[in-house]
Amino acid sequence: MLISFKDDAARDGALAGLHDWEVRTGFQSTRVFARFLPRQNAERGAPMLVAGDPAAPLSSVVTEAGVRYGVHFGTGYSSGLFVDQRENRAHLRGIAPKRLLNTFAYTCSFSAAAALAGATTVSVDLSKKSLDRGRENFLLNRLPLDGHRFLADDVLDVLPRLERRGENFDAIILDPPTFSLGNRGRRWNVEEQIGDLLHAAIGVAAPGAWILVSTNCTRLDRASLERAARFALKTARLGGSFFHAPPLPDFPHGEGAQTVWLHLK
Ligand SMILES: C[S@@+](CC[C@H](N)C(=O)[O-])C[C@H]1O[C@@H](n2cnc3c(N)ncnc32)[C@H](O)[C@@H]1O
Repeated sequence: MLISFKDDAARDGALAGLHDWEVRTGFQSTRVFARFLPRQNAERGAPMLVAGDPAAPLSSVVTEAGVRYGVHFGTGYSSGLFVDQRENRAHLRGIAPKRLLNTFAYTCSFSAAAALAGATTVSVDLSKKSLDRGRENFLLNRLPLDGHRFLADDVLDVLPRLERRGENFDAIILDPPTFSLGNRGRRWNVEEQIGDLLHAAIGVAAPGAWILVSTNCTRLDRASLERAARFALKTARLGGSFFHAPPLPDFPHGEGAQTVWLHLK
């Protein structure tokens, strides 16, 4: 169990709530980790064990809707799986795209979910280590790696390259960080560049493609993602509609990633 908290009172409240919930449901967590959510990325640290056996391994395998993912509580701030994306992974499996482009792929959870539904996948992330964990997620699900590409590169360089090669995709995941430094020290800022990213993604989208637009930036809500998507559609002279995955009972309204699926005509 991983609890994220913004201050000590929130942590203690969550731990007490967890205890009550365990009594009510009969669910018994074997270990509980707590992770401080700082305002600045630079202050991010690994989760701390607050209950359970300190000698037990920090890595484990979890199962979500029959798909296995590796998680690790000792490698840094993120453990390997964003649970607030589970309904979007379920939607992706339902779409069953033939070709998936997973940008900002991290540990490739969307790629593994789509591959199990028959997709060939291209996963792009600056971090080679995260892509290695992505390959491990494929192996955990007995998915062969052939037919799947893992590109350790900057999404902003890869998208135009894929377009020049005439590649296109039936589903595209756009889940960028709020800020990052890409190839040649290029700065990424989601608030300023989400429109350009959408435009580049539409350039490699097949007719009828689904594009997931997602952000954790607290200054962008779902309405602003939809505005950016509408503008990108207008520029590309395309039509489309929006789909929202169902709300999550364990994430208060407005918490977790803000997401919307754009379905191209
Ligand atoms: C929010 S995580 C993505 C989470 C992922 N969609 C998931 O559900 O597991 C952001 C990822 O973007 C990667 N990243 C940041 N800037 C990038 C860039 N310019 N090009 C490629 N990857 C980038 C980071 O290494 C990180 O793994």
